Amino acid sequence: MPKGFSLPQCRAVITGASSGLGAEFARQLAPVAEALVLVARRAEALEKVKQELSATPARLLCCVADLSTDAGRDEVSAFLAAHGVKPNLLINNAGMGDYGSFASSSVEKTRTQIELNITALTLLTHALLPQLQTPGGILNVSSLASTLPMPDLAVYAASKAYVTSFSEALAIELAPRGITVSCVCPGPTPTNFSQTAKRADDGDTNRDGQALLRIPPSQVVREALGALQAGRACVFPGVGVSIAGRVFRLMPRGIMRWALRRRSGKE
Ligand SMILES: NC(=O)c1ccc[n+]([C@@H]2O[C@H](COP(=O)([O-])OP(=O)(O)OC[C@H]3O[C@@H](n4cnc5c(N)ncnc54)[C@H](OP(=O)(O)O)[C@@H]3O)[C@@H](O)[C@H]2O)c1
Repeated sequence: MPKGFSLPQCRAVITGASSGLGAEFARQLAPVAEALVLVARRAEALEKVKQELSATPARLLCCVADLSTDAGRDEVSAFLAAHGVKPNLLINNAGMGDYGSFASSSVEKTRTQIELNITALTLLTHALLPQLQTPGGILNVSSLASTLPMPDLAVYAASKAYVTSFSEALAIELAPRGITVSCVCPGPTPTNFSQTAKRADDGDTNRDGQALLRIPPSQVVREALGALQAGRACVFPGVGVSIAGRVFRLMPRGIMRWALRRRSGKE
């Protein structure tokens, strides 16, 4: 097993740091980090996180960028160069979902979802790799949804399957370069995620059984950072999610589809 990434004095880029898990990554890293670059679209929300952490020793910088666009992604590299930050940790956390059937989804929201969850994560990693200082770390935020096809959340689950697969491949590819790659697969976590994923018609997902899996953002982030430090390629935080992740990964696909058809009432 690779040695893992050491957090003290890290210089981290955290995407989606204006709320939810991203803001929590900033909270848990700020007491030990040398510098944190907080990336998201909402300048005010980023400033609020920065203010909250102003008593910590970390140098805190806010980079306002829309990562669903090429211009926004380029902005991150330009920002790092302009502020003389040489990162050794990239946390690809920004992401979004869309509750409802694929047939009735808006093309715009589907496109943004793919751009953010897949393209931004991939191209930001590609852009920052040449300047990532070693020993270095990459922590990708995937989802328990990556382990199963999810009717009424189809594009999201497929995008997270990409994130987990990509991360596990990079973990092997980059280990000889001294870069630890981990991905975290959270279950349902109370953040702004559901609010963003809901549609104007207020459609929602089937939440049966979710209460058993739900853990606070602080625990998700603690376990994710623990996995990165331990050099573990993939972590399912919380006991319930850890069991569910193992079961879903081992379950025959035919049985999985049968169970999903029954759950979604399409049988
Ligand atoms: N919460 C859950 O139940 C859950 C479960 C599994 C996995 N996850 C994953 O956890 C990650 C974080 O989500 P969260 O739960 O913390 O949700 P959240 O509270 O909605 O946070 C999403 C973050 O992404 C940023 N973001 C959204 N669109 C962006 C864009 N175009 N460019 C740049 N930043 C953008 C948002 O900031 P701005 O709006 O300011 O841009 C925000 O900081 C996501 O990858 C999500 O898929 C969440």
